[in-house]
Amino acid sequence: MGVERGAVAFEHWAYPHDLPLEAEADEGVSLPVDHEAIVAAHAISISFGGVKALSDVDLTVRAGQIHAIIGPNGAGKSSLLNVIGGLYQADHGTVSISGRRFRKVPTQRLARLGVARTFQNLALFKGLSVLDNVVTGRVSAARATFVENIIGLGRARREEESARAAALEIIGFLDLAEVKDRVAGTLPYGIQKRVELARALVSKPRLVLLDEPMAGMTATEKQEMAQFVKATRDSFGTTIILIEHDIGVVMGLSDRVAVLDYGRKIADGSPEEVQKDQAVIDAYLGVAHDGESQQEAA
Ligand SMILES: Nc1ncnc2c1ncn2[C@@H]1O[C@H](COP(=O)(O)OP(=O)(O)OP(=O)(O)O)[C@@H](O)[C@H]1O
Ligand SMILES: [Mg+2]
Repeated sequence: MGVERGAVAFEHWAYPHDLPLEAEADEGVSLPVDHEAIVAAHAISISFGGVKALSDVDLTVRAGQIHAIIGPNGAGKSSLLNVIGGLYQADHGTVSISGRRFRKVPTQRLARLGVARTFQNLALFKGLSVLDNVVTGRVSAARATFVENIIGLGRARREEESARAAALEIIGFLDLAEVKDRVAGTLPYGIQKRVELARALVSKPRLVLLDEPMAGMTATEKQEMAQFVKATRDSFGTTIILIEHDIGVVMGLSDRVAVLDYGRKIADGSPEEVQKDQAVIDAYLGVAHDGESQQEAA
């Protein structure tokens, strides 16, 4: 991506906070290009009942980077991803994606904004084949009309063909060709998680949000998944926001690591910086959260 890692001080690439807000229900305000930041969450707060899941959190993610979000259970990691992906609306704060700034990111426009995601819990169509699951990732990009789809002609058929071609390409890339006709629900868990990644990548998103893509995997499966995530960034220049509990994997894979604790961001820097950070060490090793553990179930 031509991004010089570590060469620019954080202040210089922090996303400008004075971007105009996206006007309602239109194409939004175009901003000067560059902004190496592809996503910036500004001053995000969100509560659920009495629980403050996020308090005044900023996150700036540079294009082409793998930016991890780590933190103890309940720290607010998924909430932050869900605000960036438009699933949650923050009580306060805004999210900027590729030069457009939103109070609530419009989920129906995510594909057009070049954003795709996976979920913390598997969200595959268990009864469909791997190929069909991956094809569904393209649906939101399709433009054929309802009628064209019904009669199965012309544009609809071309779109289906191109969706299948794109699905087969990403299936090959993620080394899933051997299982492409298998029913997804019958495959080992680690493979199913990879199918989910394939579905997210089939539309060639500029940004992909991965909520614990390695959770519940064996050590070997995690290493494989980490390699695929890295290959995705290296091959397609995809920006990746990754939530992961396995610190070893995170430190080996990420360009930057943001650390949440009790809904606040307590650190954000290179893996080396974050590992040395006293607040991070305290959050993980110091005062334990009641009844919580950072041990992976696997
Ligand atoms: N949709 C929701 N409804 C109610 N409470 C929620 C919701 N989403 C998150 N929360 C609460 O917000 C807090 C942060 O949750 P979140 O899922 O963001 O944490 P997390 O860091 O992803 O945790 P984990 O590592 O366990 O996945 C928790 O107290 C959680 O119960
Ligand atoms: Mg979570």
